[in-house]
Amino acid sequence: MGGYTPEYDISLKSGGVVQQYLPKEKYDVYPVLISKEKWVYASNEGKEYPIDKSDFSISVDSKKVSFDCVFNTIHGSPGEDGMMAAYFELIGMPQTSCGFYQAALTYNKRDLLATLKPLGIKMAKSCYLNKGTPFDKSDIAEKLGLPCFVKANKSGSSVGVYMVKTLKELTHAIANVFQYDNEIIIEAALEGTEVSAGVIQYKGRTKVLPLTEIISENGFFDYEAKYEGKSKEITPARIPLEVENKTTKIALFIYEYLGLRGFARSEFIIVDGEPHILEINTTPGLTEQSILPKQAKAFGLSLKTLFESAVEDSIA
Ligand code: DAL
Ligand code: MG
Repeated sequence: MGGYTPEYDISLKSGGVVQQYLPKEKYDVYPVLISKEKWVYASNEGKEYPIDKSDFSISVDSKKVSFDCVFNTIHGSPGEDGMMAAYFELIGMPQTSCGFYQAALTYNKRDLLATLKPLGIKMAKSCYLNKGTPFDKSDIAEKLGLPCFVKANKSGSSVGVYMVKTLKELTHAIANVFQYDNEIIIEAALEGTEVSAGVIQYKGRTKVLPLTEIISENGFFDYEAKYEGKSKEITPARIPLEVENKTTKIALFIYEYLGLRGFARSEFIIVDGEPHILEINTTPGLTEQSILPKQAKAFGLSLKTLFESAVEDSIA
């Protein structure tokens, strides 16, 4: 848990929930904190033990402790963008989330959308900006219409996402988002129902959990809506069965096509019965407020079983 981005605090909460529910009679669980400053095992007694980066082991009371697997609950970089995954693959350490290439691809909104578009997956029209490259805001507004969404191309939890209604707001939002990321994606606003599809590995099979409908008080599912209760999430989503089936099928197809592993949560906006993909989270939030744990419960899975199956799948 931890990470190098503003999702740090969310990650600590996700990690705390995982630690709380993983069955202690079956596993010795070591909370490991990864930050820019340090990689440490932070014991429940408040002591810190540095991680040996050569093999991700620790030394406790002069005794080496090696791990069987890593339960990755780092949202954003370096847990969700492929960096940790590449490191774990290099040192041969099993971990619960997808491989480095899949993580890097899905964390990059532009590249994910470019991969899915030729497959016929529907999505909003978008523009992409690189820091330092000139752009014409009127052209963007004309192409996408207003309001539109300005997003960091690589971020999570809606950090660096703005809904803009005017050209002036567009200019400000672009300047703000360039503080988070050197790349920006700007998307046309889609009018429809936001739906979240959690996917897990369960009993050796890929399973799409009951869908969640998201109703935000803030106009879109922003950080406040996500973590400060400014949204209503309804599981299962109140959408027609055929739309539910279509969304489930697309979420499953994307997961398998990309070769994802472990937990993933895809976000869609349903427009006239057609799911439009927004993004995929490959280390989805596991806090008490997060969606995937609620979906697992709606499916009849306890958090203990959910987390245990992730561990078992990673070392299978
Ligand atoms: N990025 C946040 C943690 C999520 O997808 O749940
Ligand atoms: Mg996200």
